[in-house]
Amino acid sequence: MSITAREMLATSRPLVIAHRGDSRQAPENTLPAFLKATQLNVDFVELDYQESRDGVPIVFHDDTLDRITNARQVWPDSPPEIAIASRSLCELRQLDAGSWFSTEFRETPLSTLAEVCDVIAPRSLLAIERKTGSVRTLLAVLAENVAAQRSVVMAFDWQFLTELHAARPLLPLVALGEGPLTDEKLAAAQATGACVIGWQNEALLCDDVGRIHTRGLKAWCWTVDNRDRAAELWSAGLDGLITNVPGEMLKLRREQFA
Ligand code: G3P
Ligand code: CA
Repeated sequence: MSITAREMLATSRPLVIAHRGDSRQAPENTLPAFLKATQLNVDFVELDYQESRDGVPIVFHDDTLDRITNARQVWPDSPPEIAIASRSLCELRQLDAGSWFSTEFRETPLSTLAEVCDVIAPRSLLAIERKTGSVRTLLAVLAENVAAQRSVVMAFDWQFLTELHAARPLLPLVALGEGPLTDEKLAAAQATGACVIGWQNEALLCDDVGRIHTRGLKAWCWTVDNRDRAAELWSAGLDGLITNVPGEMLKLRREQFA
């Protein structure tokens, strides 16, 4: 039987989490990027999702479509900044989310969260970051999907995490945050029911890792692409790092924890 997300969280070696897939090798948050990350054998594949106008969770980071799709070409008369929430799933299916990255990925489509769970969860654990959308919508996707056992759910919105924890107490949650990690923030993050604190690289101090552990929580950090910084955080006991260069970080981990 495949390892569950909860079992992976309990392992002692530091985890390597591929930010938006192997996002330096393929367009972020697309199936090609996720499949490349699974081929590296990362511990978790991270993704973001936003809800479409008709309430379907779509795997996508930004609030607007302009940066990494051809939405402007498809809908030239739209006002500047085309919100993903202003388009239906059917409309979003028309978009090319790969050409901005390279011609090799021309016409790569956006995927729904359900599609990514179906394809990737059997191959890798998932770190699902909710950007927008309700608890009900997320649980509808996870119901009867292997991803229900193979995922952690992350959010900056701690009210969302609190509601999700009340609905599904056994689902592992990651409370994301940024800025100085004060005792007040740490207590509020823990109060959501999260078992992992996922903090901003630029703000996380090595001493914070111990403060997180003292509360019986795991410490993750985003987004760490620098080898020296990764080594420093691992020495401090960091449990997981979210990175745009998962191949490099896996290699570094093999060197440090051989
Ligand atoms: O997973 C945490 C990290 O991804 C949060 O930042 O903006 O890349 O979603 P962002
Ligand atoms: Ca994210």
